[in-house]
Amino acid sequence: MAGRLAAVFVMGALALAPAAQRPTPQTPPGRATPPPPPATIQPVTPLHPPDVVFLPSDDAVVDGMLKLANVRPSDVVYDLGCGDGKIVIAAAQRYGARAVGVDIDPERIKEATANVQRAGVGDKVSLVLGDIFDPAVSIHDATVVTLFLLPSLNQRLRPRLMSDLAPGTRVVSNSFDMGRDWPPTRTEQVGNFTIYLWTIPKRAAGD
Ligand SMILES: C[S@@+](CC[C@H](N)C(=O)[O-])C[C@H]1O[C@@H](n2cnc3c(N)ncnc32)[C@H](O)[C@@H]1O
Repeated sequence: MAGRLAAVFVMGALALAPAAQRPTPQTPPGRATPPPPPATIQPVTPLHPPDVVFLPSDDAVVDGMLKLANVRPSDVVYDLGCGDGKIVIAAAQRYGARAVGVDIDPERIKEATANVQRAGVGDKVSLVLGDIFDPAVSIHDATVVTLFLLPSLNQRLRPRLMSDLAPGTRVVSNSFDMGRDWPPTRTEQVGNFTIYLWTIPKRAAGD
């Protein structure tokens, strides 16, 4: 019940949150000021207004998602709708993984680029300005995908996840499931938030 209420609250917040309310990531002590990010980043797809507003996952939820997906240094973690980059930065910094963040909002990618540089994980993290639904944004090499979108967007993304990701790839979502037809293999509660795990199944012969 508490999880369902939290999901309803998060959906409301995602629909209404002003994009300006964002925490400013801290510069780690002892690190020099990073160079400024490039002034313009080229989109890989046509851009349109985001399908859901930016709202960062809670720190504990980020950690919970990466643990639930059992992220290892050998993994390639894609955050589809990466916002300010906090999940891809955590995946690289705390789990040693390579990570790719995709977002359709140029402001988010600019912000994520600065945060990645500030966190000193530019060698492990790439950022892509583009639409997560556009096949021009390749996700084939992901071994873990993280999502914090909306139920309708998870379900819209589902065919793409099923066709483009290798069997065994783990998908984790903050707050929202994939609908009745694809039940999660595990769920966990992190404070008020439910997090969900799926594993891409083996394809049937001929698929
Ligand atoms: C709720 S935020 C999640 C941010 C981050 N993943 C996290 O959990 O902290 C959703 C993000 O998805 C992005 N987004 C929305 N529609 C998108 C689309 N079609 N393609 C790429 N990014 C999109 C938004 O700009 C926003 O930054």
